[in-house]
Amino acid sequence: MSYYHNKNVVITGGSSGLGRAYAVNIAKRGGGNKFVIADLDEVRGEETLAQLTALGAQAKFIRCDVSQCDQVEQLARESQEYLGRIDLVFNNAGVASGGQFLDIPAEDWDWLIGINLLGVVHGCRAFGRIMQQQGSGHLVNTASLAAFGALPGMSLYNTAKAGVVMLSETIRAEFAGFGVRVSAVCPSFLRTNLMERTRTTAPEIEKVTRLALTKNQYSADYIANKCLDQIAKNKLYVLPTLDAKIMWRVKRFFPRMVVGIGARTYPFAMKQLKARFAK
Ligand SMILES: NC(=O)c1ccc[n+]([C@@H]2O[C@H](COP(=O)([O-])OP(=O)(O)OC[C@H]3O[C@@H](n4cnc5c(N)ncnc54)[C@H](O)[C@@H]3O)[C@@H](O)[C@H]2O)c1
Repeated sequence: MSYYHNKNVVITGGSSGLGRAYAVNIAKRGGGNKFVIADLDEVRGEETLAQLTALGAQAKFIRCDVSQCDQVEQLARESQEYLGRIDLVFNNAGVASGGQFLDIPAEDWDWLIGINLLGVVHGCRAFGRIMQQQGSGHLVNTASLAAFGALPGMSLYNTAKAGVVMLSETIRAEFAGFGVRVSAVCPSFLRTNLMERTRTTAPEIEKVTRLALTKNQYSADYIANKCLDQIAKNKLYVLPTLDAKIMWRVKRFFPRMVVGIGARTYPFAMKQLKARFAK
């Protein structure tokens, strides 16, 4: 029987992209599922609910800004009322940023860290407490290949996602004795609506980020399904694509080489990008 059968699931950022793809593909694999879709986007949230109910699942939308601790605590209480037992929580809501470190304003650090890192912290705290009391559950935190790729021009996003990986590693050890699983999902680029909530500092960065998020080979469905296979196996690092698997290993064994390659290629890459896109 599928790991996802009869599971009660909460997904932040479930209105769009990877979050919606998790929901729809769990409903297809599982059967007997109940979902809470938590997001700021109510219109797309309703679309996700329609897809889930068409697949025979029960689902409810709860508006929640994950950067606000009190709203996430409220989400956990309402989810428990609606779902009863909570089996899987995807701390997945996120935004993105691109630009050279010195050009990124301080308020962008507050904004992105608040959503991408503290949003996950709040989710793990609120739902982790419930799961420890239950003696079961699985927290799935969306990080990124950016967490170990150290790609220049992405300092803010990289830093937040590295924090998500470290948080997941640490609490996986803390929660194991309570029957609670923790995984960190680390995809490379996939096609979603993330560009709508991306802040960039220069036109060439904006254009190349748009290309990466809209024209690459991976659909959200493809990545979600690869992730769901590995989540069911309780992997700590969920690496859905070959490039993520290779980069994870290269960074672990040759960290200085990764940074060195970035240092050597970045000035040339920026020159090329400016020549091609800065209009
Ligand atoms: N798209 C990629 O290439 C890629 C790669 C690696 C990791 N990720 C990560 O995947 C996750 C999902 O992003 P996506 O690519 O599906 O983008 P998306 O924009 O399609 O979906 C993100 C969802 O998060 C919601 N959201 C944003 N801020 C929120 C907040 N403060 N509170 C509640 N909800 C909020 C948005 O409304 C949206 O529905 C993010 O954490 C992102 O960083 C994306």
